[in-house]
Amino acid sequence: MQARIVVVGTGTGVGKTHIAAALTRELGRRRPGVAAGKPIESGVTNVDDSDAAILCRAAGRAFVAPLHSFAKPVSPHRAARKQGTLIELEPLVKWVDGLDGDPVVIETAGGLFSPLSYDCTNLELVLALAPAAIVLVGGDRLGALHDVRGCLRGLGALASRTVVVLSAPVEVDASSGTNCSELIGLGWTDLAVAFPRSAATSSETTLAARFLADAIEPRLPRSPESDPLRADRHDTQPPPTLPAPHG
Ligand SMILES: Nc1ncnc2c1ncn2[C@@H]1O[C@H](COP(=O)(O)OP(=O)(O)O)[C@@H](O)[C@H]1O
Ligand SMILES: [Mg+2]
Repeated sequence: MQARIVVVGTGTGVGKTHIAAALTRELGRRRPGVAAGKPIESGVTNVDDSDAAILCRAAGRAFVAPLHSFAKPVSPHRAARKQGTLIELEPLVKWVDGLDGDPVVIETAGGLFSPLSYDCTNLELVLALAPAAIVLVGGDRLGALHDVRGCLRGLGALASRTVVVLSAPVEVDASSGTNCSELIGLGWTDLAVAFPRSAATSSETTLAARFLADAIEPRLPRSPESDPLRADRHDTQPPPTLPAPHG
């Protein structure tokens, strides 16, 4: 099974795709085999502009269509009902398993508690995916403390695998720029990364993605290519040998 990094949001439109794509690009610079995908997407009018397309491009890979893609920009459970389909966890996990990559960055649809069906929300999908790491994205604005706290409580034991990312909003408020340090000061998370309001491939975005990737890398299996210490050891030291038997 691949190592999975699941990107969830405190809500919709908070910057999940922006941050998932930046993280995917950064991980791709560090190690081979990175893939990214979006198993459920609603509000798809133009496939080229879809989140799935943005993520596949960030990974430098061919487009992989979501398992469930809906034109209506509504909650997945409602879009599925309108289309006469049912969103179920098992096929979603299989779809992720089938992605040709390791690690894989997976963006969920909507917020952490958005319903996928009458039985489950994104939270149950995250649990079923058993991620190596979770990226919880919220807006760096009033309400962030409440929303992040609620999501971390919902994630339960998985909160210890979660890195909080707050994305700078279009319109800042009096709390913007303070929420990351407040979350840490309150003892609600150990690590919160602030993403600037900046273009997808700008140097500011790349720098923030580096911080995020640094926080996530220790949770991923080591790749020989991305581990300079290991490469040095092989270059400079012969493998250990057993002493020759006496007699
Ligand atoms: N930090 C940011 N800097 C610049 N643009 C951003 C940032 N975060 C989000 N956006 C933009 O805001 C819009 C919504 O973000 P998006 O990543 O699509 O949110 P989500 O995936 O959570 O729905 C997109 O147009 C995206 O490019
Ligand atoms: Mg998105």
